[in-house]
Amino acid sequence: MSTPVLVAVAWPYASGPRHLGHLAGAYLPADIFARHQRAIGNEVLMVSGSDVHGTPITVRAEAEGVSPTDIVDRYHGEFCRQWDELGMSWDLYTTTGTKNHATTTQEMFLAQLANGYIDRRVSEQLFDPEKERFLPDRFVEGTCPYCDYPDARGDQCDNCGRTLDPTDLVNPRSKLSGATPVLRETEHFYYRYSDFEDRLRVYLESRQGWRPHVLNFAKGWLDEGLLDRAISRDIEWGIELPVDDLGPGKRIYVWYDAVIGYLSASKEWATSSGDPERWKHWWHNGDARHVYFIGKDNIPFHALFWPAQLLGVGDRLEGGELRLPDDIPANQYVTFKGGKASASRGIGLTIDEGLALFEPDALRYALAAAFPEQADTEISVEQIGARINEELVANWGNLVNRVLSMVHKNCDGAIPEPQSFQLEDEELLAGIDRHLERSAEQFDAAELRAALRTAMEAAQSVNQYLTATEPWKLAKSDPERGRTVLFAALSAINGCRVMLAPYLPFSSAVLDEVLGPVDGWRRAPLEVGRPIKKPTPLFKKVELDVEDA
Ligand code: MF3
Ligand code: ZN
Repeated sequence: MSTPVLVAVAWPYASGPRHLGHLAGAYLPADIFARHQRAIGNEVLMVSGSDVHGTPITVRAEAEGVSPTDIVDRYHGEFCRQWDELGMSWDLYTTTGTKNHATTTQEMFLAQLANGYIDRRVSEQLFDPEKERFLPDRFVEGTCPYCDYPDARGDQCDNCGRTLDPTDLVNPRSKLSGATPVLRETEHFYYRYSDFEDRLRVYLESRQGWRPHVLNFAKGWLDEGLLDRAISRDIEWGIELPVDDLGPGKRIYVWYDAVIGYLSASKEWATSSGDPERWKHWWHNGDARHVYFIGKDNIPFHALFWPAQLLGVGDRLEGGELRLPDDIPANQYVTFKGGKASASRGIGLTIDEGLALFEPDALRYALAAAFPEQADTEISVEQIGARINEELVANWGNLVNRVLSMVHKNCDGAIPEPQSFQLEDEELLAGIDRHLERSAEQFDAAELRAALRTAMEAAQSVNQYLTATEPWKLAKSDPERGRTVLFAALSAINGCRVMLAPYLPFSSAVLDEVLGPVDGWRRAPLEVGRPIKKPTPLFKKVELDVEDA
């Protein structure tokens, strides 16, 4: 039976270039997972978009002296181009700047307000006395109270990963003027996250198969007590509040609206697909499965705050209760030479720099082989190059090229009719089928690094089979047997390419042309007599000028 699977992917801030750490952390794993889910016949809805609100955008606009819209348009355009170049298979990649998203956000707000989960509170916030403006989130920097890192931002410390409030910072300074901020009273809407502690504990306790680091982090956060948090800000850029109680100059907080993007994008997709109610198939469906791909700094927002926002709607909106996340296979960090990759701090390669050095499939391969699924993982340009040459090209690209060349040359340019199989042929294919089964389990558990290793082991077994059977010698000594060996090798390749297709969409499309389409998670049967032309290599070897890199 086909399951509706929502592949929900973190929404990148349209505030600056994304780097390879982001790609390996959330976007690429999501795409690979989604491609496997489609291959096994599930109904995948993969959505995300650019996060266009919040101080990451306005701080940059302020610094460049342009409007937030200019910043958003520039980076949203850049992301869309990069997704195409990388072969990202979004069902919808939109932005949080749409009318639909604002409406969906305001509807949720009103439902939660009516349910008593939103109230108004006066607090003291940092205020820039020179610019005469409040300084929410990233408009202020200072020393982290937890780890003493001197350049922590008002919303988060990049060193220890803690979520912060501007008033937590020691020695705060205004990003706008450099002035020392003062405290001033202001009124905001608060979401009563603390009302959800018990329900969230039950929710987290009932999660099966989550990555230990995700579950432990979320539970640890909950054990410290969930604080109510302001969901509006003193800012001009953001979604308008659906009630005007607070007066002008206040907008909805970016983290309250961004997670709602998963729902609003599902609605936008349904509308543009011609069936506006279709989103309910994923959101009001007990059989659906919602899998969120994010980096670990986003865990509290997805494992606690977003479920609390969904629970707070109750059944007040049309259609009833909304589905909570089924799994959040958050990745740890990719590090470059010991530091966490960070676009805002200029560490590591940007996606464009990666694409300038490597072909898209090769880059996807090397990053997937290093996905930080269990622990922070260090990568370098040299290591990416080595993985491409020594694994992707040597183990897979050359295998395909060698076998296709021999079929072309020794089998009259067509897939041959085999004789009956010998034990070694049967064993090869039985081994490939076992690898297919194992990789299916690993994919399903979002263990994408392990599933890639399984696929490459399968390719390695075909190489070993060729070394043992030596079809290039059989071509003269026993041509019939030689053709059967090539048939078996090609059948094995037909299993390997199924496992590799989610990682390598471009070269897989080329192979589909050569060998015919695959269907389902199994070795596609070979079409005897199908013409096989002289092949061209699937990948280029990388020649790295390490000095340049
Ligand atoms: N914009 C945030 C970031 O880049 C991620 C938002 S994920 C969402 O870190 F779920 F909130 F949209
Ligand atoms: Zn810190």
